[in-house]
Amino acid sequence: MNTTPIIIAIDGFSSSGKSTMARRLAARIGYRYIDSGAMYRAVTLYALDHNMIAADGTPDVDAITAALPNIRIDFAPQPDGTQSTMLNGVDVERDIRRLRVSNAVSPVSAIPAVRRALTAMQQEMGLRKGIVMDGRDIGTTVFPGAELKIFVDASAETRARRRFREMVEKGNAVSYEDVLANVVHRDNIDSTRAESPLRRAADAIVLDNSDMTIDEQDSWLYDRFLQRTNAR
Ligand code: DC
Repeated sequence: MNTTPIIIAIDGFSSSGKSTMARRLAARIGYRYIDSGAMYRAVTLYALDHNMIAADGTPDVDAITAALPNIRIDFAPQPDGTQSTMLNGVDVERDIRRLRVSNAVSPVSAIPAVRRALTAMQQEMGLRKGIVMDGRDIGTTVFPGAELKIFVDASAETRARRRFREMVEKGNAVSYEDVLANVVHRDNIDSTRAESPLRRAADAIVLDNSDMTIDEQDSWLYDRFLQRTNAR
């Protein structure tokens, strides 16, 4: 791409398909893709492995806050074109996708110190632009000045079906009901928390992809990218 690089922010509920579209757009236009949710998941995995989350899911805010300087997260490109989330140098890509982490991540991502630390890391990753980042607060808090902002919407059932299929394909033994319950529960926490709740930026373009194929979604997003970069 010979145009001046921009920042593309893609926000939406869990399992809305935003990561797939963000990753595919980044590959197509030669931008860096960052899955900000993976970073919240990595912090959660660290907290679980260091006994900083009680059996009822309540995180030990002080312990997690104190541990933040010891948590290093980066992304390692893989030979198959995907990238792995690295936690202190260890590939945790598979571990962070398990239900154990999914069930614990929302309260951890509601901790103000965690949000501040990860927001700062994400902003640093975007300094040179040419980046597609997906999450919940990218267009509102991390990059309020992003040149292209998308807000992806889809019904909870559609999203639970997608995640269920994904988890079964990866060999996880889960029930659809458990996955749906997790999706609804996380929607609720993510959109009602005090710090950077999931909400649409006023200047974000809304995409409801409930009835779209992945290819349709890719073309839609690529067109938005072309419009935005040609208009500059
Ligand atoms: O996109 P995901 O389901 O992998 O995200 C995991 C959790 O991280 C989700 O419950 C909310 C949180 N999250 C967040 O608070 N802010 C972001 N920018 C990305 C994710």
